Amino acid sequence: MTVHAGILGATGAVGQRLVQLLAPHPDFEIVALTASGASAGNSYRGAAKWRIETPIPDSVAEMTVTETTPAAIPDDVDVLFSSLPSSVGREVEPALCEAGYVVSSNASNDRTADDVPLTVPEVNAAHIDLIEVQRDERGWDGALVKNPNCSTITVLAPLSALDAFGLERVNVATLQAVSGAGYAGVASMEIIDNAIPHIAGEEEKIERESRKLLGEFDGAEIDWHDARVEASCNRIPTLDGHLENVWADTAESVTPEEAAEAMRSYPSMELPSSPEQLIYVFDEPDRPQPRLDRTRENGMAITAGGLRETAGGVQFNCLAHNTLRGAAGASVLNGELLIEAGYL
Ligand SMILES: NC(=O)c1ccc[n+]([C@@H]2O[C@H](COP(=O)([O-])OP(=O)(O)OC[C@H]3O[C@@H](n4cnc5c(N)ncnc54)[C@H](OP(=O)(O)O)[C@@H]3O)[C@@H](O)[C@H]2O)c1
Repeated sequence: MTVHAGILGATGAVGQRLVQLLAPHPDFEIVALTASGASAGNSYRGAAKWRIETPIPDSVAEMTVTETTPAAIPDDVDVLFSSLPSSVGREVEPALCEAGYVVSSNASNDRTADDVPLTVPEVNAAHIDLIEVQRDERGWDGALVKNPNCSTITVLAPLSALDAFGLERVNVATLQAVSGAGYAGVASMEIIDNAIPHIAGEEEKIERESRKLLGEFDGAEIDWHDARVEASCNRIPTLDGHLENVWADTAESVTPEEAAEAMRSYPSMELPSSPEQLIYVFDEPDRPQPRLDRTRENGMAITAGGLRETAGGVQFNCLAHNTLRGAAGASVLNGELLIEAGYL
């Protein structure tokens, strides 16, 4: 079965990663590419200013970019992968779901809405069935599914592994790459030879999204995890890969060795884009590092290390590729989950 896919915001940093991942994908065929009015009408090659290390795929290079409206989307599209700015997604995504499309989105709008599944398949695949509640409440034939913010995805699976010991409190400090802000995001004069201790809205996203993701779905609603999560976010001059320092307090005592074993044995899935091993734990105290470790398993693995005991639990460092595992790869995984769960 081939699922016809469209990409919303296909010219941006995440949109280009979506093109890179979906063009050779065994289950999806790209049939539509959208962007802003400034790009619409141009070929994808002309509009996208391709900046990825692999060549622009031949199958999409000469496709015409369209506007991002329900009327511009071809009828034969089954799923839309969205990498729109949240201000645009807020308006356009619900309209597309109402028009019958299934939307797998990166944008932050509606991530914590009661009837919107926020999923990382290896961690909370069961939440996908919140789609039934969403369709009942909104009367949609389509559906809206979200993946979390890139810095939340980086820390989520290690936290879920530690929840076996009863996660009570989490503190996270992030060191985030510039690609996380999109191509036009951070001026070079601001970030070279510098670090910026503020990313607007990012702390709140980690604090809220992680608790929803770690919550329990009872068939009607998500009961958010009651751990206290606090974050502090920094932009640093790496290109890709968010590194995070984490302090996790648990109800039961846990040694660094037990924590490492819980992470190493945390199961992955057999979806086409899932890594074989979800969490790699280094014994070397100076790993993971963005440049060395962000591309492990096609950029879909989480790496961790630096485990040590603290008064309330453990401290560790973790890393993920922000535009692959943290964005485009996360949306594609959700698309694969939608197929497996029968929604596509
Ligand atoms: N970068 C990351 O690591 C990351 C991680 C997780 C989530 N996200 C989220 O993913 C989304 C995309 O991020 P990005 O980094 O790819 O941003 P980006 O590089 O700025 O790309 C934005 C895309 O949206 C399109 N767009 C802008 N305004 C539009 C409008 N009014 N109507 C239709 N299309 C419009 C742009 O088209 P034009 O080229 O025509 O302007 C471009 O294709 C954001 O919501 C972001 O928060 C990003």
